[in-house]
Amino acid sequence: MKLTTRVMENTHAYRLWQAPFAEKKFAPILAHNDLRNVRRVLDVGCGPGTNTRHFAHADYLGIDHNPQYLDYARRLHGRNFVVVDINDWPLAAAARFDFVLINSFFHHVDNASARRILRQINAVLSGDGHVHIIDLVLPSRRSIPRFLARNDRGLFPRPLTEWKELFGQAFETVVFEPVSITGLGATLWEMVYFKGKGKP
Ligand SMILES: C[S@@+](CC[C@H](N)C(=O)[O-])C[C@H]1O[C@@H](n2cnc3c(N)ncnc32)[C@H](O)[C@@H]1O
Repeated sequence: MKLTTRVMENTHAYRLWQAPFAEKKFAPILAHNDLRNVRRVLDVGCGPGTNTRHFAHADYLGIDHNPQYLDYARRLHGRNFVVVDINDWPLAAAARFDFVLINSFFHHVDNASARRILRQINAVLSGDGHVHIIDLVLPSRRSIPRFLARNDRGLFPRPLTEWKELFGQAFETVVFEPVSITGLGATLWEMVYFKGKGKP
């Protein structure tokens, strides 16, 4: 296991590293959606409840395989968090959500797993629901964002074109927007925001 992985699996280390950037990553979701209308949220790979506070008014279920993250999230938010490996898809066939959030998760899984999980998510979207994905882009040029993407604990950051193809195969594209996350006067991460509608 990489050293970065071991450190980042610690809740406090992860929160310290991500806290200054969490809202910047979430900003495109706020720009494109009115969260007051959201009724039922599934937060896939929710971590220590990084984005939970945005859904205080809605039904909320956060799933993640790190029990330490979820203990922390439960104490902080008092919401429904379930420890599960997403590869063992935990949701009943009848479960439906109008807002599925997947923030910074898919760069942890290979293409075959990502395709399977995307299909499973398509199946739990309500008719008027959308999936909202934020993920890590691997830029082609040598740069800080490329260095950080290559040294992330997730082994599968992808070029924008690959994200577009992966998401577009599973969902009807509503928004596909590159996002630069800045800090200390520089761009640190290149990300992408995807909003999709279920495909029959
Ligand atoms: C980069 S973190 C993102 C956490 C949170 N969504 C955020 O925005 O801060 C990726 C998350 O995916 C979770 N994760 C990775 N692989 C997983 C799997 N197979 N099953 C469940 N959770 C997984 C990790 O534990 C971690 O919390």
